Amino acid sequence: MTKGVNSAPTKASLSSKKASLKGADKLEKYPLEVSVLNPNQNSNADETSSIGAHITVLLDEAVYALAIKPNGIYVDGTFGRGGHSRKILAQLGDGGRLIAFDRDLSAIESGRAINDSRFSLVHSHFAAMQAKLAELGIDKVDGILLDLGISSPQIDEANRGFSFRYDAPLDMRMDQSSGKTAAEFIANTTEQQLAEVIKNYGEERFAKSIARAIIAERNDGRAITTTGQLAQVVASAVTRFEPGQNPATRTFQALRIFVNQELEELSLTLPQCLALLAPQGRLAVISFHSLEDRIVKQFIRDQENRDDLPANFPVRAADLPQPKLKSVGKAIRSSAKEVKANPRSRSAVLRVAERTLVA
Ligand SMILES: C[S@@+](CC[C@H](N)C(=O)[O-])C[C@H]1O[C@@H](n2cnc3c(N)ncnc32)[C@H](O)[C@@H]1O
Repeated sequence: MTKGVNSAPTKASLSSKKASLKGADKLEKYPLEVSVLNPNQNSNADETSSIGAHITVLLDEAVYALAIKPNGIYVDGTFGRGGHSRKILAQLGDGGRLIAFDRDLSAIESGRAINDSRFSLVHSHFAAMQAKLAELGIDKVDGILLDLGISSPQIDEANRGFSFRYDAPLDMRMDQSSGKTAAEFIANTTEQQLAEVIKNYGEERFAKSIARAIIAERNDGRAITTTGQLAQVVASAVTRFEPGQNPATRTFQALRIFVNQELEELSLTLPQCLALLAPQGRLAVISFHSLEDRIVKQFIRDQENRDDLPANFPVRAADLPQPKLKSVGKAIRSSAKEVKANPRSRSAVLRVAERTLVA
């Protein structure tokens, strides 16, 4: 594991994250990731049919965005059930190569069904991408896809502890072979740290009351070890919530993001993608909530814009660092047809950038 990825953030790091996410509360144009919710919430028959399976989001759009070269080397950082990977493989020629990553052992297990010499599947978090590719002798690739968040099988398998739909052990780790569970975090955290996690990662206005209720429960000798217990305690502390939404939605999202260090993973990986991409290589990232989309958007912006310098900056334009990325098109969202067929796709945002020729 890359150092720091699975460590608990200190108060200072949480505060700086809060600062870097300043204004995130205004960014709620994307609904919360529905994957932590009951996928049948606000449901229709189509939503029920997605239980247990993972329907790949923005499949055509994301693979098209990679502008696949038949003999290129591609990375799928989030294999899941391999929807994107299979489509990439279908577009690669005999000399092409695809390396996929997932930190979830069930995803890796499901990938064994792909018997293709052009394909390698690595059990790792994607923040170790550069090092893992180096082990395979790869230092440049032609495209990288990240389809962030969790998959439907992860939500739907009760014992993963992601969902308040089932009463199950409060785990929430994507990689059940390492790291601390949500229950372990709750057992050892302080009220203040818990409130910060719930506020920063769940954008929950009742974060303080929820943290107080959880810690009171714990200190009364009732350790919170199941999703059902947690959902109940949260519900007792939340007095208002969005119609049709479970009061524990934001708290579950926050704990999941924290337990898996999802924002840190993304922040550590984007610079690696930049270093790995060959000239004209493509980066495609699908986000499911505003916290992660903001990081992606800002990263691309930082790499392509030099206009943050003052107009009278005493350096010739040609001497300024040249952009290493350029955006390709605007953010892409799922079509109405896709959202109807797969409601989870309604919060998806795909951003695409291309590596320039600048070394
Ligand atoms: C939304 S699903 C991807 C679905 C996939 N594109 C498909 O078509 O089946 C996200 C997957 O990424 C994995 N994942 C999320 N964050 C990860 C990380 N930091 N490192 C490695 N895998 C990660 C999850 O375990 C999950 O299987």
